[in-house]
Amino acid sequence: MIVPVILSGGAGTRLWPLSRELYPKQLLPLAGERTMLQDTALRLEGVAQLSAPLVVCNEAHRFMVAEQMRQAQRTPAAIILEPLGRNTAPAVAVAALQAMADGEDPLLLVLPADHVIERPEALRAAVEMGAPLAQEGRLITFGIVPTAPETGYGYIRAGQPLECSRQSSVVRCQLGISEATDNGPRTTDAAFAVAQFVEKPDLATARAYLASGEYFWNSGMFLFKASRFLEELERLAPEILRWCRAALDEAERDLDFIRLNADAFAACPGNSIDYAVMEKTDAAVVIPLAAGWNDVGSWSALWEIGARDADGNVRRGDVLVSDSRNCYLHAERRLIAAVGLEDMIVVETADAVLVARRDRVQEVKDIVAQLKAQD
Ligand code: GDD
Ligand code: MG
Repeated sequence: MIVPVILSGGAGTRLWPLSRELYPKQLLPLAGERTMLQDTALRLEGVAQLSAPLVVCNEAHRFMVAEQMRQAQRTPAAIILEPLGRNTAPAVAVAALQAMADGEDPLLLVLPADHVIERPEALRAAVEMGAPLAQEGRLITFGIVPTAPETGYGYIRAGQPLECSRQSSVVRCQLGISEATDNGPRTTDAAFAVAQFVEKPDLATARAYLASGEYFWNSGMFLFKASRFLEELERLAPEILRWCRAALDEAERDLDFIRLNADAFAACPGNSIDYAVMEKTDAAVVIPLAAGWNDVGSWSALWEIGARDADGNVRRGDVLVSDSRNCYLHAERRLIAAVGLEDMIVVETADAVLVARRDRVQEVKDIVAQLKAQD
């Protein structure tokens, strides 16, 4: 059995003014008709032995999350509510504990709710390839071929290739990534022991990793047995496990909602699964993934994955352009008229308008910090 664990706790501040604390990016239809949460829940359709997902989110988002999952016809096994964010290690820990509550020990497929994956069939193939390795006690990561020295990602150096079975037939894994042509589904036929996992290196290190050609980006998705993850957490971050156990033991249960005990969860140290476990474990495996992955971290990422017109503009909503190129123009309530713009982002909402150069969009988070300071 594979239980998807959907992490929906981030605030997505770099996508302000659309993404807000009460309405974060994963709950918005930013990259298509459905919200990113709904896309996440639906993209695994067809994977063998998939069961209902567990969603972990902030208490403030519970009704939106429940309603969006209902609309997508993916009723969760439970929605675990955090009183406050403690980062991803505790979020995955409470999901693992909950998944084992009935004496079962399923595989968990950890999925951030705010990624875009253009070719979900490649992800499904990678998950099916990883499942037998996860059953053996490996912690599976999915590696993306890097294209820039990003410092916001984890970097994974692949070590020895592993023997693994794909579905029922045993295949010998080969070194190297095999990608089908652009027309067909892309799959990989290799899995490697992780030789090194480095979370968020500095720029010089990221540049060196990129130049070496030996590193993947960590996609942020993971596959492992619930008990195996908890075993590693107990060894590497026992305080997190202790407080998560207390928060779940003392949780209030109300229909599908599991409201974690606020005092216990607040006492839990905050850390990401990457720093707490993946950098330190010896059991990690990387499966290369060429699935058109994008973590939609900024407005420029939405321009990159959006449907561009002949002039390279992505237009959402009521937008008119004249002699403008390579812009992302997003109108919620009013008409945007752009004349002679190049490489710009314009996002119009009811109470705020963002105008930014496309190469400066990371700095939107500084505006959000200024707004918070004013509150
Ligand atoms: N429920 C819950 N609670 N979810 C959370 C929390 C939390 O406290 N914190 C983060 N999340 C969710 C986010 O919404 C996102 O979907 C996912 O967990 C990952 O968190 P991020 O905060 O976006 O992590 P990151 O982008 O800095 O780094 C991770 O993802 C990269 C790829 O996008 C790491 O795994 C990196 O190694 C990886 O490269
Ligand atoms: Mg992220």
